[in-house]
Amino acid sequence: MAPPFSLPTQNTFAEESDMKDTEVYAECERIIASLPRNGSWNFDLYQYEGFWYWPYLIAGTILSKKLFKPKPSHIILGTFPKCGTTWIKALTLAVATRNQYDDSTNPLRHEFSHDCVPFYEHDFIDKVLPPRNLEHPLISTHTSYGSLPKSVMDSGCKIIYTCRDPKDAFVSLWHFWRTLAGVDPPPIEDAFELFCNGVSFCGPYWDHALGYWNASLERPDKVLFLKFDDMKRDTLLHIKRIAEFMGYPFSAEEEKEGMVEKIKDLCSFENLKSLEINKKGDFFPVAAFSVEKQSFFRKGKVGDWKNHLTPEMAARLDNIMQEKLKGSGLTLAASSHD
Ligand code: A3P
Repeated sequence: MAPPFSLPTQNTFAEESDMKDTEVYAECERIIASLPRNGSWNFDLYQYEGFWYWPYLIAGTILSKKLFKPKPSHIILGTFPKCGTTWIKALTLAVATRNQYDDSTNPLRHEFSHDCVPFYEHDFIDKVLPPRNLEHPLISTHTSYGSLPKSVMDSGCKIIYTCRDPKDAFVSLWHFWRTLAGVDPPPIEDAFELFCNGVSFCGPYWDHALGYWNASLERPDKVLFLKFDDMKRDTLLHIKRIAEFMGYPFSAEEEKEGMVEKIKDLCSFENLKSLEINKKGDFFPVAAFSVEKQSFFRKGKVGDWKNHLTPEMAARLDNIMQEKLKGSGLTLAASSHD
């Protein structure tokens, strides 16, 4: 049976790996074709290792399990989609490179955050992408903790995970899919039902967050668990926490000179959204798929769900989360800690 999709064929990554062997792609296609499929969001999601992904991400995950060789110095940025990936990429990049650039030469002024810090799973399926500046330790992923390559654990590299109030995550996700060419997501009520049933890109949300949460309890020196909502409330404190965790704490002199404030301002929603590089053009996470860069900067607020969900819908999702996270010590609704 022919798979209902095909992976990109031109990949220059093949030059340096057994990806040359197209059998590897064929194997990915066979695995994906055998997975449960759901088209309710008006594009195909496949359930891989307990989570719903689009096929490119699954192929990239399978390949990264074979090929990804992180260094101990790498820092993996894990996120549930629409929970602040663009922001945490900018913040960590600004922290890591603060002594390499001044304000005007900072890569964030000239490159889209997602081009500066790629998703490793995308790079493994597709190198028809512009060359990226990887002279920093950062790389990102949307996969669940359980699907991280074993090499990530073996290397001992650090992981920073970011999530947010699931109501805002859902609303942001629904809006985002509306901006994708060729995808017309279901009405918000139907999409909400799917989200509540765990069927959404990278869902179930609660399991995604729980995997990283439990890891952060087991290995606090290696896994930092962050919430977008807390980061919005006290950004300076979180920039300092992030820098310390990354192993690049601010010196007293840097703090006195206002370095933390500078990073906050550079990476603020308002500033990034206003930069020419983020206003125009498309982002190609894989060559077969593009999205306008400006779609990654919508409102950047906590609580926008109030403009889109009824109180009943909000209570339902809060109850589901409470039930699913019971006993874990994790709470995700922003209202519970506002
Ligand atoms: P909203 O849709 O609620 O506005 P991701 O980067 O994971 O795709 O998440 C996108 C969400 O983060 C969007 O949320 C977007 O507006 C918000 N966002 C993007 N850049 C941000 C920044 N610098 N600060 C705060 N929020 C940001």
